[in-house]
Amino acid sequence: MNAFPELKLSLDALRALQLERLRSVLRYAYANQAPYRVKCQAAEIHPDDLDTLDDLERFPFTAKADLREAYPFGMLAIAREKCVRIHASSGTTGHPTVVGYSAKDIELWSDLMARSLHVAGARPGDIVHNAYGYGLFTGGLGAHYGAERLGCTVVPMSGGFGERQVQLIREFGADVVLMTPSYMLAIADEFERLGVDPRDTKMRLGLFGAEPWTEGMRAEIERRLGIDAIDLYGLSEVIGPGVACEFVETKDGPTIWEDHFYPEVVDPETGAPVADGEPGELVLTSLTKEAMPVIRYRTRDLTRLMAGTASAMRRMAKITGRSDDMLIVRGVNLFPSQVEEQILRDPALTGHYVIELSRSGALDDLLVRVEARAALEGEAVSRSTDGLAKRLKGMCGLSAAIEIAKPGALERSMGKARRVIDRR
Ligand code: DLL
Repeated sequence: MNAFPELKLSLDALRALQLERLRSVLRYAYANQAPYRVKCQAAEIHPDDLDTLDDLERFPFTAKADLREAYPFGMLAIAREKCVRIHASSGTTGHPTVVGYSAKDIELWSDLMARSLHVAGARPGDIVHNAYGYGLFTGGLGAHYGAERLGCTVVPMSGGFGERQVQLIREFGADVVLMTPSYMLAIADEFERLGVDPRDTKMRLGLFGAEPWTEGMRAEIERRLGIDAIDLYGLSEVIGPGVACEFVETKDGPTIWEDHFYPEVVDPETGAPVADGEPGELVLTSLTKEAMPVIRYRTRDLTRLMAGTASAMRRMAKITGRSDDMLIVRGVNLFPSQVEEQILRDPALTGHYVIELSRSGALDDLLVRVEARAALEGEAVSRSTDGLAKRLKGMCGLSAAIEIAKPGALERSMGKARRVIDRR
C-alpha cells in the first residue's frame, strides 16, 4: 500500500503539475485578491504572461507588510463567511498577521501534516503527544489535525506544566512527541529532575520546528532522549506546520511539499533568484490554497534548495536564521544558530543559552550566557569559558564574554525560545 502517492511523482510529472497549478493560482489570486492584482498592474504583468515556471520571477513578491496592510481580512480570496478558521502569527509589534482557511484548506493542511508525520516515521495507531501551543499559533491545531488524519491517537497537551508533560508521556505511552526543540530540552531536564529515564518510555520520535535549531541541537536531543529528532518546517502565512518535513531515513533537511508550495531562493537584498544550492531567502508560492493563497511570499528564512533524495521534491537546508534575526555586532553579521553550533561542541554545555548585546561607549558588547550540564567548578569553568570564547573568535572574529550559568538558571520558554536580548 502506498498511502502517499505524490511522494513517488517523477520530476517531469511534478514540474508539469506545478506549472498547471501555478497558472491557475495566479489567475485566481489576480481575480480575487485586490491587493495582489494592484501589485501586478503596477508591475505591468498579467497571469497570462506565465508560460514556464521560470516566468514566476517576473511577478511581484508578497511581504509580511502586505498582509499587515490588509489587516484583518483584506487578503482573503473568498468571503469571510466561507472561512472555517482564522489563525494569526504573533508579530512583535503592531497588528498580528491574519490567515484564513476554507474547509478545503483545512483538509489540505491535515493531509500535508499527515504526510509529514508519515515520512518522519509516525504510523497509524501511534500515541502522539502534541505540546505545540494550541490557539492562534498554527503549531497546536495544525499538528493535531494531521496526526488525527494519519490515524494516530492525539494527546492535545499544548505547552507548559513540565511535570505533567513527563507524567503523560510516560503513563499514556507516547510514541511520538511534537514541540519546539528548545522546549524538548526543557522537558529533558524535567525528566532528569524527576529521576525518570526517557529511554524507559515508549517515546521513539519527535518532530521539531517553529524556531531555528542546529545539527548540534539535534544530536543533543537524540542523545538525551533516545529518539529520532526530525525537522518540521512551516509558517502561518503559507499554511502552518507541514510545508516541509524531513524523512527519518535520510535526516538531510526538510523535503518541501512542492506539489503544493513552489519554492524559490532569492538574494535577500536584491530579490534576484539564486541557483539551487546557493544560500538566500526562501520565497514560497502556495499552489492550491483557497481562502488566502500567497504568491512569492518572502519568508525571511535563510536556507538553500537542494535536489530531492527520498523524493523528487527538493529539500531545504536547515534554516540558519531569519534575515531579520541577523545580529550586527561591531559590524560583523552573526546569527544565533552560529553561536549555538559553537556552544554545543562542548559536551559540558547545553542548548539553553541566550545572547545579550549591550553598548559601552562606542562598542557593542557581546555576552553569551549558557547553562552547564552539571554545576561546573574551578578549572572546568575556565576550560568551558575559554574554549567557547576561542571558538567564537575563530568563527567570526568577535570577542565575547561568556557566562556559564548553573543548570536551570536560564528562563525556559514553552514555545519559541527567545535567544537574543538586545539592549543597544
Ligand atoms: O512556527 C509553524 C510551525 C509550527 C512550524 C510547528 C513547525 C512546527 P509561525 O509562528 O508563523 O509558524 O512562524 C514561522 O518560524 O518563518 C521560521 O522563521 C520559523 N520556523 C518554523 N519552522 C522552523 C524550522 C510556525 N523547522 C517561522 N526551522 C518561520 C527553523 C523554523 N525555523
